[in-house]
Amino acid sequence: MRKIALATTFLSLGTFLVGFHKPTPLKQENPLSIKAKKAPLRVAQNTKKPEPQVDVPEGFLMAYKPLPKDYHNASSRSAAKIDLGRMLYYDTRLSKNHDLSCNSCHKLDNYGVDNEPTSVGHKKQRGDRNSPTVYNAAGHFVQFWDGRSPHVEHQATQPVLNPVEMAIPNPAYAVKVLKSIPGYVAAFQKAYPKEKDPVTYKNMGDAIGAFERGLVTPSRWDAFLNGKKDALTNAEKQGFIKFVSSGCLTCHIGPQLGGHMYQKAGLIKPWPNQKDKGRGTLLKDKTYDMFFKVPGLRNIAKTAPYMHDGSVKTLPEAVAMMARHQLGRELSKEDIASIVTFLNALTGSVDANYIKKPALPASSATTPKADPN
Ligand code: HEC
Ligand code: HEC
Repeated sequence: MRKIALATTFLSLGTFLVGFHKPTPLKQENPLSIKAKKAPLRVAQNTKKPEPQVDVPEGFLMAYKPLPKDYHNASSRSAAKIDLGRMLYYDTRLSKNHDLSCNSCHKLDNYGVDNEPTSVGHKKQRGDRNSPTVYNAAGHFVQFWDGRSPHVEHQATQPVLNPVEMAIPNPAYAVKVLKSIPGYVAAFQKAYPKEKDPVTYKNMGDAIGAFERGLVTPSRWDAFLNGKKDALTNAEKQGFIKFVSSGCLTCHIGPQLGGHMYQKAGLIKPWPNQKDKGRGTLLKDKTYDMFFKVPGLRNIAKTAPYMHDGSVKTLPEAVAMMARHQLGRELSKEDIASIVTFLNALTGSVDANYIKKPALPASSATTPKADPN
């Protein structure tokens, strides 16, 4: 219930900001408009009139913040853990048939996604939900669409055992695999030097999580928030103003533009596909039917298809659907295009060296063989 109250607060904040955004061409306190007023003398001598910078009202930026440098905590900030986690992330031997790694569904050279509506797992099975990106996921308040995992370290222990994903039969089997690979035994010892028996299932998740905490994608939007006012084009700034004044900020705020709370898919107008009830099913409580984690919007232009079921193919469609079902409004084609222009500015990049596939340690005679069944 507190979450709903919080959402209502943001809703009113949204309404407040929408109301606040009456065009104010001669805002005295704004240094840019003062400059614009003084400019004509000089501009007159130029043949080409420079386009005046679109001014984003300060109030519109209140709810936004640049990305942090990384998502590390005291435990994860360890080069040995990160290096181990990177190897595990790419290792298909953590799947029953040695054909899937984390990178199969969350491709690190493709914005952390596979661009499939739902992903292909063990024996070509498909789950019910779209694979979200692993980029910046460590910054979310919970993991998964329904938030059933508290953090990336715990989350990483889930797909390995999921029968439609990597399909390892049980944690002991995964540990057996890891212990059969001498290079891993050494790497776990290096990453967890104080532990007597460091090759554990929990430490496997811990190391993968440590690696994921470095997947941060700063973009021009961050440069803009850090004060570089010309880091965004006028069209992108106008798109942001449209994003806020349309009410998207009710739910998409913070450094990730989401990833910070649950909300109902279909808050105003019922969501078309009600098969997956999200948190309602998880909590066995109808009050939370259709509640999902509000996804972050970083790199959103690159992570199609959209929504928990992967049913929406393009970004303009996703924006139109959001306006209709979350806000009860029909946006014009122009407004949708303008918002999409802004969303494109959220595409960032991750350090290419950080995500480079490392050499993986060799199997031994005791390493379990691939099992297609
Ligand atoms: C077969 C495809 C597949 C594989 C392999 C896979 N994942 Fe996922 N991943 C998914 C799907 C689908 C979801 C969403 C499931 C849900 O929300 O119920 C997901 C969710 C996540 C999330 C949550 C992101 C968020 O925004 O909530 C993270 C983080 C993640 N996976 C990391 C990993 C890691 C680490 C591995 C390897 C240990 C891995 N995944 C292996 C398909 C896969
Ligand atoms: C009331 C809260 C709320 C509002 C308002 C809202 N969203 Fe969302 N948004 C969500 C939720 C919840 C989802 C996940 C829906 C699902 O898949 O079930 C989502 C999903 C999205 C997605 C797809 C993300 C992905 O990874 O698949 C995009 C894009 C998006 N929103 C953009 C917008 C835009 C643009 C606006 C304004 C027009 C907006 N949202 C308004 C809550 C909201």
